[in-house]
Amino acid sequence: MRGAGPATTIRLADLYAPIADELVLSQRLFADELISDQGFISDLCRHVGQFHGKLLRPALLLLSAKAAGELRPEHRVLAAVVELVHIATLVHDDVLDEADIRRRAATVNRLWGHEQAVLMGDFLYSHAFHLCSGLDSQFAARLVGQTAATVCEGEMMQVARRGCYELTEAEYLDIIHRKTAVLVEACCHLGARYAGANDAAIERLRTYGRGLGMAFQIIDDLLDLTGDESEVGKSLGRDVCERELTLPAIHYLSTVAPAERERLLTLLRGDDSQRYREIAGLLRNSPSLTYARTSAQEYITSAREALVTLPPSPARDSLETLAEFVLARRQ
Ligand code: IPE
Ligand code: IPE
Ligand code: MG
Ligand code: MG
Repeated sequence: MRGAGPATTIRLADLYAPIADELVLSQRLFADELISDQGFISDLCRHVGQFHGKLLRPALLLLSAKAAGELRPEHRVLAAVVELVHIATLVHDDVLDEADIRRRAATVNRLWGHEQAVLMGDFLYSHAFHLCSGLDSQFAARLVGQTAATVCEGEMMQVARRGCYELTEAEYLDIIHRKTAVLVEACCHLGARYAGANDAAIERLRTYGRGLGMAFQIIDDLLDLTGDESEVGKSLGRDVCERELTLPAIHYLSTVAPAERERLLTLLRGDDSQRYREIAGLLRNSPSLTYARTSAQEYITSAREALVTLPPSPARDSLETLAEFVLARRQ
């Protein structure tokens, strides 16, 4: 078994069935928004539109709406908005992480260079706010603005802490909360609020989204160390290369004897781009990979518990199974 966990037979298409039509409509809005009279910019837009990922954030927004109330036309706009924000963060993240592969294709920075990738990320953020500000209520624009700023904080904190091998678990959790969980929580929040859900249901879905987001990033960091690049579909080993500590290494460094600690530190400080494999081997032979998986499992348990008072529905079932998928995923 790989550190990233067993393969899963859960199919996202099945989980998305209750909102499949709305998801297609939101993808159309997404494509219509990204129009430019400059041919090469249209090529860039086609590139990011064509290689779509798991669509987890728009699906969460739509499923939360359906689990807590009624789907409305605003939801498909918001689903497009959160995917635009998400992709903007990925395009920028691939510059920061010097990544070559994303969604089984070459990254924007690899194909068009860092400068165009930075501008493409800005272009995507701008379109997200343009689309969002067309809604009657300003609630979404304010929440999405605040959320995008928090994601940037998380990424900036992570860059600022590069090469710091004293990073604590609490600092790591703060970073992943900001860079990942806050956006996932916002998706659930927007879905529920625009569905006319009551405050208690909104809180429950926010708690679910927060827990799911934390587990999602812990598992993502495990995949970066122990995954298979052809399965995951993006560049791996980037955290080690960029000298960013993630949960298994933080746990290892704070629990093992000094000689073992020195061994890992020497590997972490090295410069061979493939050293993450040796690091993964070291961590696999210790309780540290299991520690990180258990931590993700705990976040998933709390996320699932938050759903229990929502009325039973196919959408609620999908949210529950999505939580299992996040733990078992290999891509
Ligand atoms: C990748 O997110 C970025 C993280 C927050 C870890 P996803 O794994 O949801 O990316 P796509 O949208 O499926 O490509
Ligand atoms: C994901 O960060 C980007 C954001 C959450 C903004 P990572 O660098 O950890 O994720 P991947 O592995 O590149 O998708
Ligand atoms: Mg990255
Ligand atoms: Mg990164």
